Amino acid sequence: MNILVIGSGGREHALAWQCAKDDNVKNVYIAPGNAGTALEPKCQNVVLTSTDASDHSAVIEFCQSNDIDMVIVGPEAPLVTGIVDACRDAGIKAWGPTAYCAQLEGSKTFAKEFMEQNHIPTAAYQGFTDAAAAKAYVDEQGAPIVIKADGLAAGKGVIVAETIEQAHEAIDDMLADNKFGDAGSRVVIEQFLQGEEASFICMIDGDNILPMATSQDHKRAFEGDTGPNTGGMGAYSPAPVVTKDVHDKVIEQVIQPVVDAMKEAGHPYTGFLYAGLMIDKAGDPYVIEFNCRFGDPETQPILMRLQSSMVDLVAQGLDGQLPSEAKWDNRPALGIVVASKGYPETSSKGDVIAGLPELDTTNDNAVKVFHAGTAFSNDNENEVVTNGGRVLCVTALANNISEAQQAALAVTAAISFDGAQYRRDIGHHAIARENA
Ligand code: AMP
Ligand code: GLY
Repeated sequence: MNILVIGSGGREHALAWQCAKDDNVKNVYIAPGNAGTALEPKCQNVVLTSTDASDHSAVIEFCQSNDIDMVIVGPEAPLVTGIVDACRDAGIKAWGPTAYCAQLEGSKTFAKEFMEQNHIPTAAYQGFTDAAAAKAYVDEQGAPIVIKADGLAAGKGVIVAETIEQAHEAIDDMLADNKFGDAGSRVVIEQFLQGEEASFICMIDGDNILPMATSQDHKRAFEGDTGPNTGGMGAYSPAPVVTKDVHDKVIEQVIQPVVDAMKEAGHPYTGFLYAGLMIDKAGDPYVIEFNCRFGDPETQPILMRLQSSMVDLVAQGLDGQLPSEAKWDNRPALGIVVASKGYPETSSKGDVIAGLPELDTTNDNAVKVFHAGTAFSNDNENEVVTNGGRVLCVTALANNISEAQQAALAVTAAISFDGAQYRRDIGHHAIARENA
């Protein structure tokens, strides 16, 4: 089999690595990939360019001329512009939601209205395009309060305002100063939810739901969950906050209603579905956001634990035959993101990365460095350099979360590049539970 993975992050490195492990797979192509995917056995990066984001012809041509059996789409942007629809129209099997379903991530307003209509628990909200009206609403509601850009903003278009002043500033940034471009020409203002976050990711084939192992992400840039929101600074799996009882509630109150409503709307949901949840003290889940894809960095620890074949699962998903369970390593996994200087506001490119361990790992090897923003140096093709905000995700499997954190930290500490930054406290909620 030949597989094409679309994307260039740590998620795509983990997906490509899992696919390549399957004996039935001959080639895994990654478009555009990174230095890590280029170095994986059976894997090869390809450049497929099209100047128009909604033009997927380059992908279709590549699939047709390279005998591609399945396309796995990593990031949200091509999903939102309809890459799955375009592939299907061309008779190519592509794993992901259609553009209609991807609106769950592509538009916060669509997602909020969808949740309201289908009685999916979420924070109370209102949408605004006018700054004065938005500020008046904030004044009435009080702080803390959450301001979100409506469109895609790579996880950075969300401000949790502690004060009314911060909320006003965020509204001005998005609506008046256009800091997030078109994504911020409309804002959603939300009630602040309290509790512990978890990521709940499933595979859905239109009908059947296959939950992935649970996970928790750390969205804030700095230790102690402080600083600006990022795409995610580290994650671990499983998330102890998702007990059996919480798991059942999430399926019943969140995931099943999505499957049913999309089917009824004539747009069955296919692909990965990610519910970002706040679990309150009573163990009730509230949806913070939907993503129409696997999480990054959640994918890295989750796929470290996956013992079923990713390729078989996707093939079953494409045939509408998803099983209800996959096989997982009982051991937890934890991934630490190493980011470049200035992330999340800016990022640095071209800094030489030293201390990377051998990429080639066996199933017994308990630490894996997944690449994200990396490339080969223009001057020396054996040298790996930074190429974006999130650079690496050092992921370890161990007997418990504390040991996984220590194992990942030990490898992370040996890696260096100018301006490298990472959090030493990934997994702290779970570690506090282990030590309790
Ligand atoms: P989002 O991009 O919508 O997932 O938001 C990014 C992060 O902001 C989330 O992971 C939460 O940490 C925080 N956040 C978003 N919405 C809320 C909310 N309504 N209440 C509390 N925190 C929130
Ligand atoms: N880690 C959060 C996300 O993938 O959106």
